[in-house]
Order: sequence, then C-alpha cells, then structure tokens
Amino acid sequence: MPKIKAINHVAVVVDDMDKSLHFWRDALGMDLHELRDVPAEKSQIAFLPLAGAEVELVMPTSDDSGIAKYLAKRGPGMHHICLEVDDIEGMMSVLKEKNIRLINEEPRTAVDGKKYAFVHPESTGGVLVELYQL
Ligand code: CO
Repeated sequence: MPKIKAINHVAVVVDDMDKSLHFWRDALGMDLHELRDVPAEKSQIAFLPLAGAEVELVMPTSDDSGIAKYLAKRGPGMHHICLEVDDIEGMMSVLKEKNIRLINEEPRTAVDGKKYAFVHPESTGGVLVELYQL
C-alpha cells in the first residue's frame, strides 16, 4: 500500500515577489533559501524551508505561461499543496481505482529526478494537490 510520508511544500502564486518576500522573509522572519528563475516554467520561484517542508512563492515571468494564466484568472493566492509519497505509481493507481480525477495520467520526471503528478481540485475539495516521489 503506497503511503503519504510528509507535506513537502505549499506553493503560493504571487504577482509581486518583493512584496511577498516582505511578508514571508522580512516580517515572519523565514529563511529565503533560494530565489531562482525557472525558464522552463517561465517563472521565478522563492524557496523558504521550514521544518522539513517548504513554502514556495511562484511568480510568472511571462504572460503566456500556465501560471500567468492562473494568476490572471484567479489572482494571487494559494496554488497547490505537495505531498511526498513513497510510491507515486502505486498511489496514482489507488486514486484511479477510487475515481479520483488526476491531471497527469502518468508521473512526470523533474530535472532533478523527482517524480511528480497533479490531482485535480475537483476531487480534492478545491485544492490542487501535487504528489512527489523523491
Ligand atoms: Co509544487
């Protein structure tokens, strides 16, 4: 039986990185571990680790990306929660069996080798859920 192991990260879409860092880094005092451009996703991402998990701030750097369209449609806010799983393929078949709607039919592999897939908000109570296998 595949198992959820941890909350890996929570991702927030922002329209103004400086303004967001003013809250998360300067006011809350969280560590900004990394601020980097991800050209493949046409976005800039800030990573603020906390107790084995991370808050990720994502800001689109171009108008034609998926994340830019999301921002234009819904405005800034909570984007997704990512759960670490020990067996992503196994978990995805369990979800399919239980009629949970998946966005990705197969896991994708990130540049760093992590496997990931998204579960549709329609089946989760309105929250986009990402599954990660490290
Ligand atoms: Co994510």
